[in-house]
Amino acid sequence: MTLRKLWVVPKLGSIASLELREEEIPLPEVGHVQIATRAVGLNFADVFACKGLYAAAPKENLTPGFEASGVVTAINSGEEKAEDYPFKVGDRVVFITQFGGYATRHNIATGYVFTFPEEWSFAQAAAFPVQAFTAYYALFELGALKKGQTVLVHSAAGGVGQLALRMINKVEGKVIATVGNPTKVEFLVETFKLDKEQIIVRKDASEFPAQLDAACAHLDSKGLNIVMDSLMGGFFSPAYKKMVPMGRHIVFGSASLTTTGDSPSWLSLGWRFYNRPRLDILPMINYNKAVMGFNLVYLFDNMDIMKPIWDILIGMSLPPPHVGEEFDFSEAAEALRRFQTGLTVGKVILIVKEE
Ligand SMILES: NC(=O)c1ccc[n+]([C@@H]2O[C@H](COP(=O)([O-])OP(=O)(O)OC[C@H]3O[C@@H](n4cnc5c(N)ncnc54)[C@H](OP(=O)(O)O)[C@@H]3O)[C@@H](O)[C@H]2O)c1
Repeated sequence: MTLRKLWVVPKLGSIASLELREEEIPLPEVGHVQIATRAVGLNFADVFACKGLYAAAPKENLTPGFEASGVVTAINSGEEKAEDYPFKVGDRVVFITQFGGYATRHNIATGYVFTFPEEWSFAQAAAFPVQAFTAYYALFELGALKKGQTVLVHSAAGGVGQLALRMINKVEGKVIATVGNPTKVEFLVETFKLDKEQIIVRKDASEFPAQLDAACAHLDSKGLNIVMDSLMGGFFSPAYKKMVPMGRHIVFGSASLTTTGDSPSWLSLGWRFYNRPRLDILPMINYNKAVMGFNLVYLFDNMDIMKPIWDILIGMSLPPPHVGEEFDFSEAAEALRRFQTGLTVGKVILIVKEE
């Protein structure tokens, strides 16, 4: 009998209600592998899910988590010969999952499991899939990014943000990066060789148009070709206005609509929701601008799209993702609280010690 530990939110609403449980895990079914977890990647959506703000999350007994890395401990190739199966016992792998990631063992369909570069650690591997798929899909599949184009990347020191910077650099695009806290500026200057003038420390949204003008002028850019918008709120409109014709504003998050604290502040949330950005679509025809939405759930539901994108991502030979902070698996709630301070740089990871 194989046991696993997993974090569960019995009833959604608060990070504080996370509880650690133990249960038996069956052998993997045909077409699946069993993986002993070594590292779990935290995502902003985990916070949303625990608080009951993520529509696609199960309403009860939620185990959060979209990605983890580990070692294959069992396979089930069914009729297929084991040697023809894509994975073997002992392989170092990373996988994505639609919830359920915060567990020490998993049975996962092979379509969601990927190998990663040998020189990467388990923590680095667990820091990659969700953010890399998100950055790639936004920039290339939706944004159709081309050499020399100017991209606004919000929360650029975060997980998606840093990977986006690396990818934009690969195609020689120009970057305007935003951060919510001045402590992150030096990191971006040193790691990505950005000029300070390319980095906007977001303050009040009313100052954002002038900040965008200054950054574009510094880059000798007429305006934005792509906006990677994970914030919305008051920063939406100025960025939309600063787009040049054929600009694509890609909305994939709503961080500025969320509140901090273990549970949502419903009054504040209601106010922010009521004042969320709205757009008149008629003038969009003359402006030649597009707004596009994106959620990774779409890729989960279309497994066949993922593998070719994974191959492209690995083919980009990006440096390993930046792991900002590591917590022990037992400290999931503390890690989530730290994550939602907005002060983290790079990825936050839970480490599972070898059994
Ligand atoms: N649609 C999708 O499928 C998809 C997939 C992955 C991620 N996302 C979205 O992409 C964004 C980045 O995700 P990530 O996982 O890479 O996170 P992250 O950037 O590593 O961390 C979150 C960052 O969001 C910023 N932030 C803004 N408002 C915040 C608030 N109220 N509380 C806490 N942080 C706040 C902070 O950076 P600054 O203050 O420096 O801006 C913080 O560091 C998130 O909004 C996430 O929901 C969407």
